[in-house]
Amino acid sequence: MSMQSAFPGEVIYQIYPATFRDSNGDGVGDLKGIIEKLPYVAALGVDAIWISPFFLTPEGPDGDGGYAVSDYRKVDPKFGSNDDFKTLLDLIHDKGMKLYTDFVLSHTSFQHEWFQKSAARDPDYADFYLWHDGKIDAKGERIPPNNWISIFGGPAWTWHKGRGQWYFHNFLSSQPAVNYHNIATQDALLAEMQFWFDQGVDGFRLDALPHAVYDQSLQDIAPLPHAESIPVDKRIWYDYDQSPVMDMDTLVTFIRKLRGLCNDYAPQKILLGEVLSGRKPGQDAMDLATLCTDTETLCQMSYTDALLGINHFPQAGELAKIAARMESALPNGGNCNCISNHDLPRAASRLVNEISPERRQDALRQLYRIFFMLPGSFCLYNGEELALTQARIPEDIPYDCVIDPASFGAQTQGRDGERTPMPWSDKAQHAGFSEAAKPYLPVPKSHYDLAVTLQEKNKDSFLHFMRDLITWRKTQPALISSLTRILQNLPETVLGLSRQNEQQTLIGLFNLSPEPVTLSHPYVMGGKDISIGAYSHIFFGDVAP
Ligand code: BGC
Ligand code: MG
Repeated sequence: MSMQSAFPGEVIYQIYPATFRDSNGDGVGDLKGIIEKLPYVAALGVDAIWISPFFLTPEGPDGDGGYAVSDYRKVDPKFGSNDDFKTLLDLIHDKGMKLYTDFVLSHTSFQHEWFQKSAARDPDYADFYLWHDGKIDAKGERIPPNNWISIFGGPAWTWHKGRGQWYFHNFLSSQPAVNYHNIATQDALLAEMQFWFDQGVDGFRLDALPHAVYDQSLQDIAPLPHAESIPVDKRIWYDYDQSPVMDMDTLVTFIRKLRGLCNDYAPQKILLGEVLSGRKPGQDAMDLATLCTDTETLCQMSYTDALLGINHFPQAGELAKIAARMESALPNGGNCNCISNHDLPRAASRLVNEISPERRQDALRQLYRIFFMLPGSFCLYNGEELALTQARIPEDIPYDCVIDPASFGAQTQGRDGERTPMPWSDKAQHAGFSEAAKPYLPVPKSHYDLAVTLQEKNKDSFLHFMRDLITWRKTQPALISSLTRILQNLPETVLGLSRQNEQQTLIGLFNLSPEPVTLSHPYVMGGKDISIGAYSHIFFGDVAP
C-alpha cells in the first residue's frame, strides 16, 4: 500500500541574487533583476523559488556572500529596497509560485545591533551570543575555552577586546553564533521570522541548521580515526567528531516552536532545513535530517547531502543505496535533493568528467532523469538548467577578481567558481548579466556558448531537456508522493526504480553504461528480453505530459 506524502515533491529553483541579473548597471545582481527574469523562471515550470540572502550584510568578505546578516528586516541597498521585495513577492505569487527566503539562524553578522549591544554588555543582550573568559595556558597566554574549530578553518573562537572575552563562531569570525540557550534570543529570532511570514513569504530555507545550537558543556572535540595521524595544526573541521559541539535536543525543541508559528498560518509556512553536516562529518547528516524533519511538528523538508556528496559518475549500485537511504531516513517525502548550489562545485563539472566528452551530455541527462525520480523535492541551482560548468581560477576568474575567501572541506579555491553570473545572451557584454564595466564576477568565456538565447533556439539543448523533465515530473502523480522501491535482479549497470501510489505505478530502468544492455525482468517485462541503449532509459507506466 502506498503512503500519501504529507508534502508534495516540489521543484524549487535557487537564485543566487548577486549574479542572477543586474538591473541597474552597478555590477551586482539585484531584486529588480530577478523581477526582469521572472518569466524565464516561471517558464521552467518550477513550483517555488528560494533566493539566497539579500539582507543587509557587511561589505567584502565579512559578509560571506549574504550569510552574515546585520539586519534581518532590511534589504541590502545593493540588492534594492524592501518595496522591490514586496513587488517581487507579489509577482511570484501571481505566477503561481511560492517564495522561500533564506533565514540565517545560527549566527548574525558582527555588525548586527544585537552583537554590538551584547559586546557592550547591555543587560538585555548580554547573553545573545556565546561569550567565554577562556583559559590561561602553561606559558601564561590567554587561550580559548576548548579546541573547537571553524568550518572555514582556524579556531572557532575570537577574542573581543571590547568585552574582554572570547566569542564562538561556527563559520567566519564576522559571524558570531547566537545563543539558543537564552530564551530571549530565541524569541528575538522568531520575531524576525514572523516579520517575513507576515510580509507573505511562504517559508524559509533554514541555513546551516544543525550548527544553530552549540552544546553548553563545551567539551573538546576528538579527531576521527582517519585524522589521528594528521598534525593538530593541519586538521580541519571535517577531521573531527563534532558530536560535542551540536546540541540537537535544544535545536529540535526550537524547530518545534518555530513550526508552531508556521502552523498558525493558512496555508502553513514551509521550513526547508539545510542539514548537510553530520556530527561525524561525511557520515550522519541524513540521521540529523531525520531528527529535524516531520510532516506535522518539525521542518516539512530537509535539504540533504544525499546527492551532494557525489563527485563522479555514479554507478547503479551506488545510486540504489542512496535512494534506499533517502527513503528510510525521510519516508514521507521530506527529503529535498540537490546536486548543485552556491557552496559546491557545479554538477556539470563534478559528475561527468570521466565520461568521454561527446557522451557527457547524454550521461548528465541520464543522471537528472534519475534524480527527478527519487523521493522528495528537488532544488535546482540557477544555471544548472543550462549545464553551466564550474568556473576555474585563474583561467576564468583572475586572482584579482576573486571574492570568496571561504570554502568547505576539500574545496581550496573558495566558492566563486559556482557563483559566476547567469549567461543570458551570447551576444551581449557580460553575457547580458550586467551593463557595468566590471561585474561582480566575470562570465567565463565558455559560458557564452551556453547562454539562454542560444539554448532557447535549440530544441535539443539542455535547457529544453530540463524544462521537459520538470513538466514530465509534474504530470506523474506517483513522483509527487509515493513510496520508492529499488528493483532487484537487474544487470550491474542498470538502476531500476519504482514509484507507486493509488493513481500510478511508474517504473524507470536506467542504463548507466556507455554500452547498450539487454535484460529481462520477471516482474517488469514478464520474462521478455529488452534492450536499453547507452545512457538510455525506459519508463513503464508514465503519463504523457
Ligand atoms: C550557506 C553558506 C554559508 C554558511 C554560513 C551555509 O550553509 O549555504 O553559503 O557560508 O551556511 O552561513
Ligand atoms: Mg545591481
